[in-house]
Amino acid sequence: MQQKIIILDFGSQTTQLIARRVRELNTFCEILPYNKFPVGDDSVIGVILSGSPFSVHDPQAFKPDLAPLLGKLPVLGICYGAQLIAHTLGGSVEKADTREYGRAHLTQVLTDDPLLHGIDDGSQVWMSHGDTITSIPNGCHAIASTAQVRYAAYRCDKQPVWAVQFHPEVYHTAQGKQLLANFVVDICGSKQQWSPAAWVSTTVEELKQQLGDDRVILGLSGGVDSSVCAVLLHRAIGDRLTCIFVDHGMLRKNEFNNVLNDYRGMGLNVRGIDASKKFFDDLAGVTDPEQKRKIIGRDFVEVFNAEAEKITDARWLAQGTIYPDRIESLNITGKVIKSHHNVGGLPEKMHLKLCEPLKWLFKDEVRRVGRELGMPDKLIMRHPFPGPGLAVRILGDITPERVRILQDADDIYISAMQRYVCDDGETLYNKVWQAGAILLSTVRSVGVMGDERTYEHPVALRAVTSTDAMTADWAHLPYDFMAQVSSEIINRVRGVNRVCYDISSKPPATIEWE
Ligand code: XMP
Repeated sequence: MQQKIIILDFGSQTTQLIARRVRELNTFCEILPYNKFPVGDDSVIGVILSGSPFSVHDPQAFKPDLAPLLGKLPVLGICYGAQLIAHTLGGSVEKADTREYGRAHLTQVLTDDPLLHGIDDGSQVWMSHGDTITSIPNGCHAIASTAQVRYAAYRCDKQPVWAVQFHPEVYHTAQGKQLLANFVVDICGSKQQWSPAAWVSTTVEELKQQLGDDRVILGLSGGVDSSVCAVLLHRAIGDRLTCIFVDHGMLRKNEFNNVLNDYRGMGLNVRGIDASKKFFDDLAGVTDPEQKRKIIGRDFVEVFNAEAEKITDARWLAQGTIYPDRIESLNITGKVIKSHHNVGGLPEKMHLKLCEPLKWLFKDEVRRVGRELGMPDKLIMRHPFPGPGLAVRILGDITPERVRILQDADDIYISAMQRYVCDDGETLYNKVWQAGAILLSTVRSVGVMGDERTYEHPVALRAVTSTDAMTADWAHLPYDFMAQVSSEIINRVRGVNRVCYDISSKPPATIEWE
């Protein structure tokens, strides 16, 4: 049986990060809503309570009765989780005089405690809370402090319950990984058997069982997730997987043919459909971004359905949904963070069963699985690309000519990024999360070329660093690189006479312009 750690989510922004850290310890874990205790599931070896945007004194705070949990399985409370345990067991939590935020250093570390083996006195930790524990419950004792916080970490004497008011999952907690390893491996007893290789072999077996002799359809986009999903399924059921790759006309330059060839080279059974005319016709004159997305989504479903209907004996629709896609839609604070879907509405209309083999994986794990499956790096390391493609990178209405201009500018930018090798030997392309060019076709400016006055459009370049696209920083690209790309675009792409660089982070901006 696969062992797992459960992370109960009280709404903290770092809940996903806890999960990633646990997975890095080769241990499977799942994030569940704060009140879904994993009682009676023998595969669960421990539980982590996350932080929260709330104080335990807020009326809207999530305060489940922890009694059914404490004492049954090893529990680690983090930040709010630590305060909730203290509050529940009769300790006190009060508003801190000043909000405890940022770096602090541990003192009085009891390294005899299994949670703190190998953690040094003076080790840096990251605090982020408005409340603080002023007394811990009877039967508990402090195992580490900081200059400001007496109970930086404590544990219960008679129950396997530990609590830390700092965040071991964030990078700024220098020995956070060690602390989490102490909990997951030493305290909970993880055998650390979760790895991409192990995952591939069990998942392929499960897919064989689940799908039997059934036929499966999958929509390929050229992106990492759907490509890895296809190769995985192909390994399980071979040619009973049919992939459909729709060209809506707004892919990157030469993308459709290049990717189609790559897919075929990997042995996939792919039908490539050039539907660009339909999309261009339906988008003619449309300038509103949401309207564009709706039309593209609707047309995509139509084209995909028409092709899928030809595969009359298909029973399943496979999708490359990954874990963050689902966590976002399950977010317990109820805020919708992202509402874009590539193939929304397909399963309901098609009466097919849904197969989502990547649904437990994070993006970096999908890439590791892809490597494990022998996929080429150029497919695995691709930047994310939006479903509606360049349509959301052309301001105003979309014409084939504008798409051509943007494809040319984007191709110069991205190819240069792939060629540029940084000091550490990595290409600039691999160092950024995502990059692309945006055509500001609603703006014109004056320029001069030779003796001629020009009055043309600017192109904006965007490059961001990120781990999951939920937040992103603009990438600090080298000036020599930007200078070279700018002059190459202006000299070679007719219709563009100015290049700008977008220096907005997300939030408050988003990655895409529309
Ligand atoms: P934003 O612009 O919301 O984008 O910061 C976050 C990430 O999602 C991608 N994106 C999309 N992906 N269909 C997709 O499959 C879409 O409609 C869509 N819109 C944005 C975007 O490229 C970035 O990686």
